[in-house]
Amino acid sequence: MAKINTCIFISGTGTNLKKILLNSNNYNFPIKIKLIVSNKKDAKGIVLAKKWSIPVLIINKSSIINEEKTLKILKDYNVSLILLAGYMKILSKKFLRSFGRKILNIHPSLLPKFKGLNTFERMLKAKEKSCGCTVHYVNDKLDAGKIVLKKYFFISKTDNFLTLKKKTQLLEHKAYSEAIYRIFMYS
Ligand code: GRF
Repeated sequence: MAKINTCIFISGTGTNLKKILLNSNNYNFPIKIKLIVSNKKDAKGIVLAKKWSIPVLIINKSSIINEEKTLKILKDYNVSLILLAGYMKILSKKFLRSFGRKILNIHPSLLPKFKGLNTFERMLKAKEKSCGCTVHYVNDKLDAGKIVLKKYFFISKTDNFLTLKKKTQLLEHKAYSEAIYRIFMYS
């Protein structure tokens, strides 16, 4: 099976990155991680990339030059899918248009509820009954692209910011790979 050349964009710990890397090692998993892009030079996920001998591109300024440079490198690596995994910067409309291929993101809420930052704090304040994550396509509006899948759990009285975060991340680690599988195995 020809795997889809993929680049993962990160800014932090990289637990989603780790899970996807592990799954991509599986013969039947439809993608191959060719490159990792980080906008933070000390993102923990970079250590992981090095361990797996995957090239890392660090882009630490939000300039157009950086986006152009990134696009060129994505082209050099023949990347046709970008996965945003905890990438904390917004990609410009120009970047989305120029890349012109699929870009996915994972978001820690049940979209369309709680777009943007500080999702768990806002959920607790709103006394939400359920919490979870969403994998969606990226478009030029924040957390608003077509939804691929959601996973949820019920919030209990004893839940707080940390437990919501932990439970959501466990779901994310399943959801991202499941979404990739769903999109590419039958297309
Ligand atoms: C995830 O919770 C994701 O939903 C959010 O950023 C976090 C990244 O975590 N966008 P990690 O770097 O994959 O551990």
